[in-house]
This record gives sequence, structure tokens and C-alpha cells, in this order.
Amino acid sequence: MTDQAREIAELRRMIAASRRAVVFTGAGISTESGIPDFRSPTGIWAQMKPIYFQDYIASAALRREAWRRKFASEPVMRAAEPNRGHRAVARLLREGKAASVITQNIDGLHQASGIPEDQVIELHGNSTYAHCLDCSRRYEIDALREAFEREGEVHGCTACGGLIKTATVSFGQAMPEAAMLRAEAEILAADLCIVLGSSLVVYPAAGFPEMAKGNGARLVIVNNEATGLDPLADLVIHRGIGDVMGGAVGVNY
Ligand code: APR
Ligand code: ZN
Repeated sequence: MTDQAREIAELRRMIAASRRAVVFTGAGISTESGIPDFRSPTGIWAQMKPIYFQDYIASAALRREAWRRKFASEPVMRAAEPNRGHRAVARLLREGKAASVITQNIDGLHQASGIPEDQVIELHGNSTYAHCLDCSRRYEIDALREAFEREGEVHGCTACGGLIKTATVSFGQAMPEAAMLRAEAEILAADLCIVLGSSLVVYPAAGFPEMAKGNGARLVIVNNEATGLDPLADLVIHRGIGDVMGGAVGVNY
């Protein structure tokens, strides 16, 4: 039996032995759908610097840059389909082995894989729509892109004049309270936490797998590269998520 086969068999055993698992995902689960992650050598932060929330608020030039980046990434985001890893997670939830997926991702691919909205806990929001930062009025990306292409910027909210931003959580921006509370409840109810595709360096999100372990759950990390939590984990698999999760859950394509 190869090392990979042995690791997948161990993951399968841990899932079978679990009463209630929770899945925690990062950008690494979407790279096999063509969406770059952030901290791999080819990741987004290797090519550009993050725009912090307070800078987005303070600078019209940085808001224009943030929207330029958003519209430039649209073709890749729109073309992205859930991959084998997403489908394996969806199967875990469909079979009732896991109650929810806590994700740092903003691409909506867990929902696109068939997981009901109320079983996806988005810690960093969602980039498939935008909203006013003052009155929360919702704005569709296509309409904003047309305005941006015509006038070179996204104007303020038509209802209250507030600034419009994609519904994502930027560095320096408050975390979504309801999502954080739901994530904590799911983590504390789980006896198995499966981390898929995260470097686990961004807090408070990265604190959840630690919380699971501290609460007595078993911890699995599937990630191409080593993470700071590897020493805490009961099983670490430094391989591609699609093959590992597809193999462990029986999703073959
Ligand atoms: N299979 C397994 N691991 C993978 C795969 C794959 N197919 N593709 C990438 N990875 C791993 C990379 O090696 C990397 O360690 O996934 C990890 C992704 O880590 P990051 O790029 O840091 O993404 P993430 O952990 O989700 O970042 C957290 O940081 O910039 C913010 O808000 C952003 O939500 C993001 C947060
Ligand atoms: Zn408004």
C-alpha cells in the first residue's frame, strides 16, 4: 500500500469513527477549480499587497484599485466550477457525517457544489455581490462593473451615499458576528475537525481548528504545505485535496 493510500485509509477510518465532524476550508480547496490561493508561491499575495479596510475607506484611489482587481478576477471566478474536493465535502454533509463547512473562502463554490446556504459558514464574507457599508443595501457586481467601465469608479450608495464594497471581510474589517458565533458552536459540537487547504495564519479564523483540538476533537489537516498547527494534528496529509478527500469519501472524479 502506498503512503498516500495509507493516509487516505486512515482519514476514511477517522471519518467513519466520528459522530459529528466539521470541515474548515481555505483557498487551497479552490485552486483545483482554477482560483489562485493567497500564500502559495503562485498565490495572490505574491503578486499584490492586500488593501486594508481602513485604507479602502480613506482612499478613493485604493477603492478604484480594489474594484479593478475585483473585475479583473471576475472571468476566473465566473468560470470556476466546484472540484472533486468540494464534491467530497458536499457528500460528507449530505450523508450527515458533518453538519456544516466553515470556510474562509469568498468564491461561493461550496454552495455551487450543492451544500445548502445555511450549512456554509462564511467567515470572510462572499465576493459574489456587494453592499453599502452604511445601510447594507445590496448591489449586483455586473451593474457595478458597467458603471466602473463607463466612469472609472464605483460611486456611492444611491440610497444613502455610503461607500459600496464587495461583501467580503478585508484585513482590519470586523468579522461577521453571526458567522463567528455559528462557527464556534459547530466547532464545539464536533468530535472531528477536517482542515482543507489553509495555511492557518489568519486569525481569528485560524483559531477554530485549535479550538476544536482544545475541546477534545480529533484534528486532520490536508494541505500541500506544512502549517503551524501540524504538530497539534492527529493526522497531517501534505497532498492534493481532490485526491485525498475524493479517495476518503468515495468521490471519484
Ligand atoms: N491541495 C492541498 N493544499 C493546497 C492546494 C491543493 N490543491 N492548493 C493550495 N493548497 C494549500 C497551499 O499550500 C496553502 O498552504 O492551501 C493553502 C492556502 O493557504 P492560503 O493561500 O494562505 O489561503 P487561506 O489559508 O485560505 O488564507 C486565509 O487570508 O488573505 C486572507 O482572506 C484571505 O481567506 C483568506 C485568508
Ligand atoms: Zn447605503
